[in-house]
This record gives sequence, structure tokens and C-alpha cells, in this order.
Amino acid sequence: MAKMEVKTSLLDDMIGVGDMVLLEPLNEDSFINNLKKRFDHNEVYTYIGSVVISINPYRSLPIYTPEKVEEYRNRNFYELSPHIFALSDEAYRSLRDQDKDQCILITGESGAGKTEASKLVMSYVAAVCGKGAEVNQVKEQLLQSNPVLEAFGNAKTVRNDNSSRFGKYMDIEFDFKGDPLGGVISNYLLEKSRVVKQPRGERNFHIFYQILSGASEEFLCKLKLERDFSRYNYLGLDSARVNGVDDASNFRTVRNAMQIVGFMDHETQSVFEVVAAVLKLGNIEFKPESRANGLDESKIKDKNELKEICELTGIDQSVLERAFSFRTVEAKQEKVSTTLNVAQAYYARDALAKNLYSRLFSWLVTRINESIKAQTKVRKKVMGVLDIYGFEIFEDNSFEQFIINYCNEKLQQIFIELTLKEEQEEYIREGIEWTHIEYFNNAIICDLIENNQTGILAMLDEECLRPGTVTDDTFLEKLNQVCATHQHFESRMSKCSRFLNDTSLPHSCFRIQHYAGKVLYQVEGFVDKNNDLLYRDLSQAMWKANHSLIKALFPEGNPAKINLKRPPTAGSQFKASVATLMKNLQTKNPNYIRCIKPNDKKAAHIFNEALVCHQIRYLGLLENVRVRRAGYAFRQPYEPCLERYKMLCKQTWPHWRGPARAGVEVLFNELRIPEEEFSFGRSKIFIRNPRTLFKLEDLRKQRLEDLATLIGKIYRGWKCRTRFLLMKKCQVVIASWYRRYAQQKKYQKIKSSAITVQSYIRGWKARKLLRELKHLKRCNEAATVIAAYWHGTQVRREYRKFFRANAGRKIYEFTLQRLMQKYFLEMKNKMPSLSPIDKNWPARPYLFLDSTHKELKRIFHLWRCKKYRDQFTDQQKLIYEEKLEASELFKDKKALYPASVGQPFQGAYLEISENPKYKKLKDAVDEKIIIAEVVNKINRANGKAASRIFLLTKNNVLLADQKSGTIKSEVPLGDVTKVSMSSQNDGFFAVHLKEGSEAASKGDFLLSSDHLIEMATKLYRTTLSQTKQKLNIEISDEFLVQFKQDKVCVKFIQGSQKNGNIPTCKRKNNRLLEVAVP
Ligand SMILES: Nc1ncnc2c1ncn2[C@@H]1O[C@H](COP(=O)(O)OP(=O)(O)O)[C@@H](O)[C@H]1O
Ligand SMILES: [Mg+2]
Repeated sequence: MAKMEVKTSLLDDMIGVGDMVLLEPLNEDSFINNLKKRFDHNEVYTYIGSVVISINPYRSLPIYTPEKVEEYRNRNFYELSPHIFALSDEAYRSLRDQDKDQCILITGESGAGKTEASKLVMSYVAAVCGKGAEVNQVKEQLLQSNPVLEAFGNAKTVRNDNSSRFGKYMDIEFDFKGDPLGGVISNYLLEKSRVVKQPRGERNFHIFYQILSGASEEFLCKLKLERDFSRYNYLGLDSARVNGVDDASNFRTVRNAMQIVGFMDHETQSVFEVVAAVLKLGNIEFKPESRANGLDESKIKDKNELKEICELTGIDQSVLERAFSFRTVEAKQEKVSTTLNVAQAYYARDALAKNLYSRLFSWLVTRINESIKAQTKVRKKVMGVLDIYGFEIFEDNSFEQFIINYCNEKLQQIFIELTLKEEQEEYIREGIEWTHIEYFNNAIICDLIENNQTGILAMLDEECLRPGTVTDDTFLEKLNQVCATHQHFESRMSKCSRFLNDTSLPHSCFRIQHYAGKVLYQVEGFVDKNNDLLYRDLSQAMWKANHSLIKALFPEGNPAKINLKRPPTAGSQFKASVATLMKNLQTKNPNYIRCIKPNDKKAAHIFNEALVCHQIRYLGLLENVRVRRAGYAFRQPYEPCLERYKMLCKQTWPHWRGPARAGVEVLFNELRIPEEEFSFGRSKIFIRNPRTLFKLEDLRKQRLEDLATLIGKIYRGWKCRTRFLLMKKCQVVIASWYRRYAQQKKYQKIKSSAITVQSYIRGWKARKLLRELKHLKRCNEAATVIAAYWHGTQVRREYRKFFRANAGRKIYEFTLQRLMQKYFLEMKNKMPSLSPIDKNWPARPYLFLDSTHKELKRIFHLWRCKKYRDQFTDQQKLIYEEKLEASELFKDKKALYPASVGQPFQGAYLEISENPKYKKLKDAVDEKIIIAEVVNKINRANGKAASRIFLLTKNNVLLADQKSGTIKSEVPLGDVTKVSMSSQNDGFFAVHLKEGSEAASKGDFLLSSDHLIEMATKLYRTTLSQTKQKLNIEISDEFLVQFKQDKVCVKFIQGSQKNGNIPTCKRKNNRLLEVAVP
């Protein structure tokens, strides 16, 4: 967008005048001054209308950058300052958008910058046309064909360090989108004489120098070459090196380009082999050898070089050697062999070298074409770029210059035809008012050269074909005869005396006044070069080479295809191809680039006005401007014009009904275009000023934008409306579907509710029915049961008398008896031992015998206990009785008890009756003594113990002195109320006496004995048997003992084991006696 907004014009920042059409005043001086002014300001391009004048700056200017390409891309021709890119863009766009094939004609002298211009055009087109991998490859191949062709076809000349020595026309083909598809290159007449000889200060073709400088040692060795230029006769020595040219690096560029273009490795190899062979051919030298018949015969001086050539090219050495010594002429059925003299041998050698090289060059072009040709058969748009050798005037001008200059004449002719003549003729044809402008038409010169009967080329051919001796001089003679009267032909030999005294015109020369100047041609070599003769022996030798490329270069050497007809001469070939070229160019829309050389020194910044003036004159540039100025810049048939601009006016838009011319008239009136700006021709509208056209274009562009907006608006409206309608339709559908769905839901709910209610009712009804039916059924069943029972009773009553009513009981009893019997019998065998402590008892066999079994166990136990008891004597029984009594009294109550169980209760421990000591005591006690034992009586005052003899008789308890045996106290058993003792493991006990009794006056006894249990038991038993009263035995760790009037508390405490196991007794106070039990 930004780019479109910047409205620039050719007129902005203009140095001098960018378009010569605008030059005021218009004359030669102002023209040259304008060019010079621009040139001095680095503006090398200037327009004449749509023609670009380019002045060679001879230095690189920063005006070909990618940014510049972008700047000129898609811009109007007159929008920016003049540039070759503007022309390229214009041509490319009208090719792409208007489907017009284009050609770009680049003309100018040698060194004026034609080749550079053609490359710039190609690179610009490559930069702006389509992109993509495939397209890029095509572009790359097209661009890379240049370095290859330049290496083989360009050479340094005095005019140009990189002069094209061949003509080149390249058709670039595009598809309908403007993407490049491929290309076709045509080449015109390579200046092959340069291979064997170069004018002073010039070089052979670049490739020779490039190989020798750039190839690796290894590669050179393979090609049997040496790096030294001076080794080769064909390389002119005086200017082997060119300033600013790096042959070595160019060689790498060429090889790389060959690879990109698609040369296979073996092809590249073959190409260089041929180049090497050509170079080496120049080194073959001949010497004369006299023969018997007196004639000289040539012999090769040094066969080494020949040998190497043959090795390189696979030619049989003897064949080649023979071809250099003999010439075979075939006429009809005859073959005549003649020997060659030294001069002929050299001629043959050079002819071979030239032919090899020029055929190799043509082969290269064919090969490149094969690679770059378009792969599709679709219709192509074509842009032709013509870069042909420029007009040349050397010191010595020969056949080549003649041909080159002829070609330039033809190009000038086509320029004149298309720009000057055609333009003026068109005005007349269209009935436009027009004053004729004079210009020089060079058709007459073209005719001088190419006329079929009297043209120089025709003469030359005639001479070449004529039998008899033919030399260059005879040719000149003929020319002098035929062309003498021609205005543009000058020769001293002609009878016309005009030039008889002109010393600048040597005798062996003729001069032609070309449109670009007079050129003196040396006639020497014309015939030869036109004949382009190569001895058949040589071409046959080449064909026999074991080298596929060389073989292919010489198809006529094939003996099977011998053609006795002469091949067309070089001149006629060239004439034909130029004619084809002209025809081709005429079908295309021409774009002109006219190159001008500012100086002869190849130097920057130098503007040689005389030189430039000369070029301007012969190029007819001034006339060109005049015609442009007098005429109209632009014309177009009415139909396409109306079609293009009809949107600018209401009446013509969108459709104009009526003749196109009337439509255009309406349109131009409506647009208020000044009348002097346009003219109506018969079939075309003519617009005088390009600016009017641009104004129209701008309006159109603006209008197109408006239209696009309008279309966009309508389209958006339509789109929105369709969308709205669609949405509305959708909404209706959705709503209907939703309503249906909602109703469905509602219906389903009602339905399911109805079903639920129904089912409840039905359930209720069914249950009610079921209840009734169940009741009925139960009633029925009850009735049946009652009936059945009643029937049963009836039947049983009737049939009782027939039953064995008691059988069951009997069987039962019998079974029971049997079981009991079995049980008892088994028990008998299983009886446990008779030991009362045996706990074993057999398991119960039947549950119903449970109680019986237990009872039986009990009975058995009692029985065996009785049995056991029955074994005892009476005395034993007594002892056991006593032990039992003790157990009942003390077991689990007194800690002392368990110790007593094992002791036999002896009772009388003291042998009272026996021991004489106790005779008195014995006597005093007449009853039976049950216990006699020594006890400790505790002193009530201090708790000290004193030994006493304790006696128990049937009725009394006695205490006696141990030593004397005197009775201290005697208590009838009836007065003993209670015995107290501790629960502990001690032998203390208190004998409480009945209050008020005699014995009680001294208080209760507090005693201690080792046989407390036995004593207490016996006391109890005796008391029971005597008084029929149970003696109260109190077991307590704190009891009261009556001491005289006082009651003293005896308290048992846990004592220390200080005194061993003996309990100690201590009076604590009046009331308390403490016994410490360990
Ligand atoms: N536009 C240019 N910018 C810079 N140098 C140029 C330009 N055109 C030509 N030259 C110089 O002039 C020399 C000759 O140009 P070239 O195109 O080979 O001439 P021609 O093909 O007309 O004989 C080139 O080698 C180059 O150095
Ligand atoms: Mg050139």
C-alpha cells in the first residue's frame, strides 16, 4: 500500500531531461548536452518515449540491487527515473497481462554494453517472475547458460575486454501465469577465424586462457596441456592477461555453470578434450620435403604433439597424419589424391581447428537448449532477448566484420520499420493529420548486401561456385562491375572515377557506407571464409575418432553419407538465419535499448562528445525524438480502449451499446480530456501525451478500487442476507423440532403418570381380588382339613379294633432295655481304678442317659470312697477325723495350717506318766491326758515368754511349771469361751475365759506353741464332746486379751527377720502388745 501512495514521476528530481521527448529546444547539441549532464551525474539511462538509451558507465553503479528491482516492480514506465528495469518490467508485464509476445532489441557498437544490458534484463525478469523450487531451477539454468556461452564465445578485443564474438538471440518462454518454463537460444556466426589468429592486442576465446590458468595440475595433465600460454601458437602472446579479469576463477565459474545447466561430467570432460585438441593442433608444424616429381610435400616436424592429440581424441594417428599430407577429391565415381604442400597443410590444420571449435560451440548451444527447453507443450508466451555483436570498425576489416555489420544494418532496418516508418505510415493509414519527418532509411544498404541478384553476398556466392580459378581479386573485380554505381559502395577499382584518387582506399579493398559509418573491407579471405572449406579427408578422420563428441561434430565424415553437393556458404547461411530472425522479431512487440559508448578507452567518467554524437546520428535518435514529439505517444484500437476505460463513465458502464468509437468519444468527453490531447483515427484512438494515458490509468485504478469496494459491499450484503435467511430457516426448523420434542416429553410424562395411576389401581384391584381368593381358598382348605380330620376320626374309630395299639410302646421299651443293657455291660468293662482321687470316667454313649451316667459316676465314687475308708483301723479313723476337723477349722484361714498337715497329731508330747520328774503332776491329774506339751506363756507385763506345760484332759485345761511340774492354773473346759489367733504363720494364741469364772480372775492366757493347729483342734473336739458346745475359734490379726482388769490389744505385724524365724513379742503400752511375725 505504502508503495502505491508514493506518487513519483519521471519528472521528480530530474537531472537534465529524463525523456528526450520533453527536451527543449531539440537539436543535436542540446541532445548531447543532456546526455552528458545525466552521464556526469551517474544517470546512464535516458528515454526517448519508450526507447531506452543506455550509456556504458564502464564501472559498476549501485543501481542494480534487489532493492532497485523491488522499486521498479509493477510500476508505470514513466513513474520512476529512467532505468533498464523499467523497460524490463513494462515488457514482462505486457507479456504476462496482455498476452503480447515481446522482444528486447539491444543494439549498439561493440563495447557499448549490449551483453551487460541483456543480462540485466534477464536477471530482472528472473527476479520478478514466479517463485518456487521448479521455477527457480529453470531460472538458474537460463541465467547460468550465459557464463558458459561467454567463456566459449567471447574474447578480448580492442574495443571490449569481453566482446561477444557470436550473435545470440534467446527466447525465454513463460506460462500463462508468467512463470518461466524454459528457453531457446539461437546463435549466429561465431567469429571462428579468431581461433587460429587474433589481431594485435586481442586474445583468443576466453576458454583457452581459463583452462590453462584455472584447471588443476591433474586435469591439465589429463588433457596433456601445460600451464604456459607461450607454449601454444594459437594464443596471441602480447595480451594474454587482461586487467581485472581472473581467468582462473572464471574457469571455476564456468565449470559450475555447466554443472547447473545440466552438463554431465563426461560431457564436460569431452568438451575440454576438444578444446585441448584445438589448442594443440596449433602446435603441429610442417616442413617441406622434396619429392621425386620435383614438387614439395609437407611433413610433420614433430610428431609428438600429433600423437598426444590422437591419444586425447581417440583418432588413429596414421589417419590424421595422412589427412594432413593428402587431399582426396571425389568427382562422380573418381577419387583423386593429391599431396599437400606446406602452405596447404597449414591451411588444412587451421581449417580443422576452426571447424572443431565452431562446431563445438554450436554443439554447446544445442546442448544448453536441450537442458533449458520447456518441458510442456502448453502455449507459451515468449520474450526474446537479442544480443548481437555490435557494429564494428577495425583497422583491418574482413569477412566477419562485413557479416556483423550487415546484421546491424538489418537491425537498424527493423528499428526504422517499427518506430519511424511504421509510425508515420500508421498516422496516414488512420487518417490522422501528419507532416512527414525525414529520416535516413538504410534499406538501400541492406539491399546492397543482400539483394539476391546484385547483392554483395550473392556475388560472393556466385564467385565461390564458379568453376575455374577463383580468388578474392576476381571477387572484387566482380563487385566493382556490379556495384560500382551504388551510392554506398566505394572502390578504387571501379570504373566510376569518384574514388580513383582516394588514397585512403587501397586497391584490394572495398568500402561500404554503412548507416553507422564507412567501413573499409579487405577483400582477402572473403572467398575462403565464405566457402568455409574443410578437406573431406579431415572430416572423415574426425568421424573415425574414438570420441563420441568429435564423431558427432563431423557427421559429414561418415562415408555412408557422402554428399557431393557443396554445403551452403557461410554468407548465405548467415543471410538466411538473419532473415528468420527478422521475421521472428516482427511478430513480437519490440522494446529497444540503444547502447552508446561514451569513449574508446573503456574508461569511466569520460564522455567523448564527438564519439557520442556520431552514434546518435547514425542511430537516428534525433529523428526518433522528432517523430515521437510530432506524433502520439499512445494508440489503441477502440474496442480494447473502451473495454479498458468504460468504467470511468456512467454512459459506458457497464455496457455500451453502439459502435466502440462513439463510446470512446462519450468517454473522453465525459472525462473532459482536452481535445488537443487525443485524435480519433479510423480504427484507433491516438493519445498525444503519455501523461494523459497515465491519468486515465490512475482514474481507472481508482475506479477499479471503488468498483472492488462496491462488489465487496454487494457481496458482503448478499452473503449476510443469505446467511440471515439460512439462519432464519434454521431457526424455524430448530423451533419446530424443539416444540415437537417438548410436546413429546410432556406427552410421555402424562402417559407414564397415567400408566402409574392405572397400575396402582389395577394393583389395588388385583390385591383385593387376591385377598378374597386367598380367603376363599383358606376356607376351602379349612373345610377340607376339618373334613379330613373328621373322616380320619370316623375311620380310626371304625378301624381301631383292627390296630395293634400297644406295639409301639413295647418296641420302645424293649429297645430301651437293650440299650441300657448294652450300656451297663460296656460300663462294667470300662470301670476306672478304685483310687478315690481318680478323676477318669468313661464318656457317655447316649444323650438320654445323661443323668443316669452322672448318677452312676457319683454312686461309683461314693462306693469306692467307702471301700477306701473301710480299710482304716479305729485309731487311724480317729486321727483322720481329727485331721479333718483341723482342716475344716483352719484350712485357708491360718497360714500355719499347711505345715501341720503332714505332722502326725501325737497329742502327748511329754511322757508325763513315764517321766518321774512329772510324777506329782501325774498324780494330780487323774483323768486321761489328751495333750501334753510345752508352751510359752507370754508375760502380760513385758511380753516375755516363760515355758509352761500345757495339758488337756477330758474336762480341763491345765498349765504347769515345766521344771517342777506344779500346776499353776486349771480351767474347766466349760469356762473356756474362745480361742483367738492370728491368721499368720505364728504359734501365738489366746485362751479366753468366761468372765466371772474362777480361773478368769488372773485373766486370759496368751500362749505360743509349735503345735498350735493340733492343740486348737483337740481343744475344740474335746470341748464339743464334753460340753456339747462348739468352741469359738477367732482368727484375727488383732484381738483383745483380758489382763486382770484391763483389756490389752494383741496386734500382729510384719516383723523383720532379725531374730530368725521366731516371732517376737513386745509390750508397747498398756493397751497394746505387738507381735512381730517374720
Ligand atoms: N551497465 C553497466 N554497468 C557497468 N559496466 C558496464 C555496463 N555495461 C557495460 N559495462 C562494461 O562495458 C563492458 C562491455 O560491455 P558489453 O556488454 O560486453 O558490450 P557489448 O556486448 O556491447 O560489446 C563490460 O565488460 C563492462 O565492463
Ligand atoms: Mg557483447
